[in-house]
Formats: sequence, C-alpha cells, structure tokens
Amino acid sequence: MLGLMTVPNSIGGVMGAWRHPDAWPDDRIMNLDHYISIAKTAERGKFDCLFVADGNGVRQIGNPELFQALSPLDRPANFEPLTLYAALSQHTRHIGFVSTATTTYEEPYILARKFASLDHISKGRAAWNIVTTADPEESRNFGREQHLAPAERYPRAMEFVDVVKGLWDSWADDAFVQNRETGQFLDASRVHVLNHEGEYLKVRGPLNVARPIQGHPILFTAGQSEAGRELAAKYADCLFAVAMTKADGIALRNDVRERLGKYGRPSDALKVFPAISVYVGETAEAAEKLYQEVGDCIPAHLGIKYLEKTLVTDLSGYDLDAPFPDLELTEVVGINSIRQEMARHFKEKNLTIRQAFQSTMRVTGGACFKGAPTQVADEIEDWYRSGACDGFLIAPPIVPTVLEDFVDLVVPELQRRGIFRTEYTGRTLRENLGLPMPRNQFFGASA
Ligand SMILES: Cc1cc2nc3c(=O)[nH]c(=O)nc-3n(C[C@H](O)[C@H](O)[C@H](O)COP(=O)(O)O)c2cc1C
Repeated sequence: MLGLMTVPNSIGGVMGAWRHPDAWPDDRIMNLDHYISIAKTAERGKFDCLFVADGNGVRQIGNPELFQALSPLDRPANFEPLTLYAALSQHTRHIGFVSTATTTYEEPYILARKFASLDHISKGRAAWNIVTTADPEESRNFGREQHLAPAERYPRAMEFVDVVKGLWDSWADDAFVQNRETGQFLDASRVHVLNHEGEYLKVRGPLNVARPIQGHPILFTAGQSEAGRELAAKYADCLFAVAMTKADGIALRNDVRERLGKYGRPSDALKVFPAISVYVGETAEAAEKLYQEVGDCIPAHLGIKYLEKTLVTDLSGYDLDAPFPDLELTEVVGINSIRQEMARHFKEKNLTIRQAFQSTMRVTGGACFKGAPTQVADEIEDWYRSGACDGFLIAPPIVPTVLEDFVDLVVPELQRRGIFRTEYTGRTLRENLGLPMPRNQFFGASA
C-alpha cells in the first residue's frame, strides 16, 4: 500500500508562497491553530504521518536579501517539533508524527527520553528522522566554530542510534508490576542498565521512561550520500529521498535495498519516500495557473541567489540564458549529495541557469507533479508501480489550499485505483506502515 506523508508548514513550502492570495490570510506566525488544521486535513486524507524538518538555528542570516524574503526552509520562527506534536496528538487519533533530531548536537539520553515520551503521549505515533545536521552554521549554537565533518558525523550517528535503541529497551514490558497487595511497584530484574562506553558516547542508563508503545518509535533517515545510505540500510524503517526523476528514484531505491542484506535485513525492510511538490487543481489549466502565480510571488532577482545558496556555489559571471555550466562543486562540510544531484539534473535536462532557478524555487526539493487530479494520480501510480518509491512526502507549495485540494481531489482517485487506504487499519503508526514490532534486545521473551 502506498504511503503518504506531508509537511505541516503553515507558511507554505516555497519562497514567496506566503504572499499568495490562497495562503492563510492572517499573518500571525507560530499559530498553533494552523498546525492543528493541517494535521486534521492530513488525517482526513488518511495520510500516514506528518514530517517536520528541523534544525537548531536560523539559516541565511548572513544573506539579508534572501533572509528577508523568507524561504520556509530557513526556519526563522518555528515550534520545537516534539512540543508541537504533543499538542497535535491531542487533536488527532491516527496520523503519525515524524520529527527531525540531530545526532551531532543532541544528547542520546535526552533525545531517547523525548521520543519515548511522545510515543506514549500520542499512543504509538512517534517517529524520529535521524539527521547529522545539514546546516554547518548550527555548530555555533553549540559552542563549536566548525561543524563536524561528514566523516565523523556519520560514525557518531551510528553509535548514537545504537545507544538510543538500547535506552528504549531499558525496561521489559512487564517491569512495572504495580502490585498493591505486596507493595512491589516494579521488578528490579526487568530493567537493563546500558553502561555504554564507545568512541563518541558514554551513557549509563536506564531510561526514565517505560518502553515506547511501538517498541521503538519509527526510524527515518534522510541522508543521500554513501555514508547516509549506509545509515539508512543499517537502521532506518523509512528513508526520505531526493529523486528528480522516476529513474533516479528506481536507482536510489534499488541501491539502498541492496545494502540491507549486509546488516541481516530483508531488502523490503526499508521504505523509500521521495519528496515531491504538487501543484493540483480541478483542471490542468488551473494547476498551471497556480504554478505561474507561485513563480510570480518570488522576486526575480532572488532566483539566482537562491540557486547559489542551494548549490553552495558562486554563479556570478555566468550568462543566465546560456546552457547550465559544468560546475566544479567542491566538497562542503554541509550537504554534498543533493547539490551534486541537482547540478547533474540541470545539465542533463539542458536547462539554462535561469530555467534552473525558476524551477528550483517553485519546488521544495525533488520532483514536481503538476496537473489535474488524474494526471497527478497517474504520476504517483507510475512511480509507485515502477518501484521508484514506497510512497511520497507531499510538499504543498501553498497551505492550506493545495493540501486540501490534494486530499479532496487526488486521494479519492488513488483510493479508487486501489493503491491507497480508505481507512486506517492499525492502532499505531508502526501498524499503519505495516512494520513489525521490534523485540526488546535485553528482554526478548517478553517483547
Ligand atoms: C526530505 C528531506 C528532509 C530533510 N530534513 C532535514 C532536516 O530536517 N534537518 C537536517 O539537518 N537535514 C535534513 N535533511 C538533509 C539530510 O539529513 C542530509 O544531510 C542530506 O540529504 C544530504 O545527505 P548526506 O548528509 O548523506 O550528504 C533532509 C533531507 C531530505 C531529503
């Protein structure tokens, strides 16, 4: 069954979308009511989960023109995701909550505790998007001048995830006996003290939260590099992907699925979810009109700056209307894989620099599906049936209207084709995603 997720970003998915007449009319940021409304709409559409991308810092502060115009990805004013989800969980019953958290700057004990708590609060709907922090600037909020290089970030991430999983398994499911007659509250033989001492981390344990309802919250990753794919193959239930075309999706999904055997996992144990931007309307013309209007909300002079930021490269001196150049994209300490992939795609598609930034600014990252509901459903079905993905992360450019249109126009079409659920069948996110319950590594028999 196809999986669907979306992003609860109340200011929209692309730069300038907040200016569009369909965007929420009031200009209050940090508006919880908007997030509740998005969560309810997505749940009405039977989406698997919401996904909050996150970081611990404000991006682009040194780039005033872009900063003032506001790209939603720069996150100048956002709720802390787990706090937000605790609130949203009280207004919904089924939809899951994927929150990003970094293995580079967080502490595993605190992170394990927060996700375990959300899993209990939401009755089994928590998921962790494991990242190593994409924005190098965030290091400065943690007393470091330099971001950790990928060669160190990913090994640390692996050890970090092992520790978090170990902490989640601190307690056997039957540890809290709470026998009023004998006065025994818990069974001291049913708790495991982790005593972890590794290359990067030293954590004693046990966790001060009972084992999560899902055993472990669902694990997502989003890294696309060699090290990122290994992290996914070893630990992830789901991978967020960047695929500009169906062929890219097929290649990526095959690649990561082939890696799973090395870690003793069956190749279908990992689900792949490319991010796509969707422009949908009652007709193809309405969708095209929306696409043009969103483009018009973005000041033209910011286009080149936006592309330079995305590719982390200087494009001054190039003719904007000449074919996309062969760029020497030297290694940066932040994201490499995505920028290299994008530059390759522009070249392959024979775009000019101007065309490259015009298309990039209208999407949140990855492919763009545009058209009438049946056309969008055709693309979704084609990618899904071709093995390019197990589902999609839908990024609506304008919120709430495009999400509502997707739910009202595209979801019924997917349901009619038999590839998407008509009702939630599970009680937890894990059950809705069709993932097995992980056994407790220290108390296997009781899990
Ligand atoms: C859909 C998606 C969402 C992502 N969300 C975040 C995020 O919230 N925070 C973050 O620091 N990085 C995020 N990333 C970046 C990845 O963690 C990763 O750094 C990036 O894909 C490059 O892969 P690499 O680190 O393996 O080179 C996201 C990537 C994708 C594709």
